[in-house]
Amino acid sequence: MTRRQAVKLIGTTSAGLVLPIVKVESQTENRSSSILTRPIPSSGENIPIIGLGTWEVFDVDLTPDKEKSLGDLLALFVKLGGRVIDSSPMYGRSEAVIGQLATGRGLLDQLFLATKVWTQGKQAGIESMERSLARLQTKRIDLMQVHNLIDVEAQLSTMRDWKAQGRFKYIGITHYNSSAFAEVEKVLRREKLDFLQINYSIQEREAEQRILPLAQDRGVATIVNRPFGGGDLFGRIRAKPLPDWAAEFDCSSWAQLFLKWILASPAVTCAIPATNNPTHLQDNMMAGRGRMPDANMRQRVLELVTLF
Ligand SMILES: NC(=O)c1ccc[n+]([C@@H]2O[C@H](COP(=O)([O-])OP(=O)(O)OC[C@H]3O[C@@H](n4cnc5c(N)ncnc54)[C@H](OP(=O)(O)O)[C@@H]3O)[C@@H](O)[C@H]2O)c1
Repeated sequence: MTRRQAVKLIGTTSAGLVLPIVKVESQTENRSSSILTRPIPSSGENIPIIGLGTWEVFDVDLTPDKEKSLGDLLALFVKLGGRVIDSSPMYGRSEAVIGQLATGRGLLDQLFLATKVWTQGKQAGIESMERSLARLQTKRIDLMQVHNLIDVEAQLSTMRDWKAQGRFKYIGITHYNSSAFAEVEKVLRREKLDFLQINYSIQEREAEQRILPLAQDRGVATIVNRPFGGGDLFGRIRAKPLPDWAAEFDCSSWAQLFLKWILASPAVTCAIPATNNPTHLQDNMMAGRGRMPDANMRQRVLELVTLF
């Protein structure tokens, strides 16, 4: 156990499912800022259940203003107990922005760097992954993922070798659309993976049928992308008031309600909402604390949001 991993807690849902949850203390914050973590099945290492997505929001020119605002955002993320940050060569300048900000602010060692390979061909994959290491300004990436299953066998063979060499700590695959779930399922059954990153939210629920249970059976950690359906969920609820009963599972905003609905699934390890807005970041990080909805509450949330 590291200093970040303190008291082990066990949460039990009304359905009798046991959620292994570890309560941690950020090195820079007091008890009130503690965030929950869950273990990566292949290693037992705990990661915070809320991470940060960077698609579009980190694809920026680092002007002095942007360097300050995004640097502050990254520092706030770490201060609030965040570690997992997800990027891809597909996200333009995002990897380079993370590398420059994390190095400049001395945050690199506190982050769990996740990125992807998104190209056809073994040699092109090798060159892409070398560029990712350089852009992130690191000798080791925590998690390398095959983006959208592109040339998955060729890329996984390199990723396995680099994991053995210590250049990657974990390897995995990603997708964002249920049209690919049959293929995702085949790869999950065939390959030995540490992580699966997949879309799952109150409005994109297909992953709960086969993909998330299979990942759980195979001992694969899951990162949930598009937790707000790319932001569409906020358009759906507009200015509707949050129900009073959301307070029963320590929820004070719609963003927290959407995230806690996801995180209440024992098959989910971590969710990665994207934002470059510090108020939204703080809001999202709050979803990583306190009580989670039980099965009845989860159903109630679903019925409410389905009405909108
Ligand atoms: N195939 C893949 O591997 C794949 C595919 C899709 C996504 N991903 C990963 O998953 C991450 C998340 O998915 P996503 O970016 O598509 O969508 P998302 O996280 O579901 O939604 C992001 C949107 O929600 C808004 N938002 C965030 N927090 C909010 C809050 N508290 N209140 C109100 N609005 C809020 C953001 O706007 P503001 O910036 O204004 O807060 C942004 O427009 C990506 O960034 C990427 O890292 C991977």
